[in-house]
Amino acid sequence: MKDCIMNVDTLKTLGFVPVAYPVPLRERVLAAMASWQGFCALPEPEKRKLSGGDRLKDFGYMFRNDAGATADRKELFHVVRTNMGEFRRMVREVSDPRAGEFIEAINALIEASAPLVVEFARGVEREFGLSGFADEVSGSQDNWTFRYLHYFGGDMLANAHADRGGFTLHLHESHPGGEYFGFDRAWHPWPVSDTQTIIFPSMALQHRSHNALKALWHRVLPTEETRTAGRYSMVGFIDFPHSFRYNDAVKRLQDFPPGFNYDMPWDEFHSLFVPRV
Ligand SMILES: [Fe+2]
Repeated sequence: MKDCIMNVDTLKTLGFVPVAYPVPLRERVLAAMASWQGFCALPEPEKRKLSGGDRLKDFGYMFRNDAGATADRKELFHVVRTNMGEFRRMVREVSDPRAGEFIEAINALIEASAPLVVEFARGVEREFGLSGFADEVSGSQDNWTFRYLHYFGGDMLANAHADRGGFTLHLHESHPGGEYFGFDRAWHPWPVSDTQTIIFPSMALQHRSHNALKALWHRVLPTEETRTAGRYSMVGFIDFPHSFRYNDAVKRLQDFPPGFNYDMPWDEFHSLFVPRV
């Protein structure tokens, strides 16, 4: 395969990189999205056969029905490539073929998105002088987390936040409503569609780049349609080995105002992290 290097200049102005999907990847993305919607239509007990058993495991199928000020009702599915053998075994217990099709669509999407992810990492390595970064990303692909999400609707979707990991690939969304908080400190709709995705840095990459890159704040607003129809999306959280992690014990990330990290001095930003043990 040819050694592609993505142009990542827009990280300095927009805070993310818009990426037109290569056609084969676009086909995988659309197939995985259709397959996720098919899986969501299965009866609840069948879906739970692909669950880690409790919400702390962060594995496979999860149903969340949180109460309180940030109430939201959603179902989600987390998968990393190292789980694939286990899912293939578990799915034999589900009689509906849509479950098996979903697992295979996930697998195909993980495989197909890897070149794009590594191409982004090469661009970042070159543009921001992060020596060895592309190899760190490429070498950890067994542990990239792919999240499939289905909000059931209502007024609450995703509150403003920055992601904790390395960087985030917003693969697909069934409806508009996603917004990013720009460096101009205003909210803007983001360009995610059937043909285009965006990739943006999260907290660990801001730390790894010594503040050169900024973890992008984002949110999902309800629309008239999603209030009743709900919303489906797919996201890839790309991690790499890093010796520090964001320390929630000091202050929860969602308790900061949007964009707090865009102009924070390095010492202050670094103090939010602790060594990974
Ligand atoms: Fe996010």
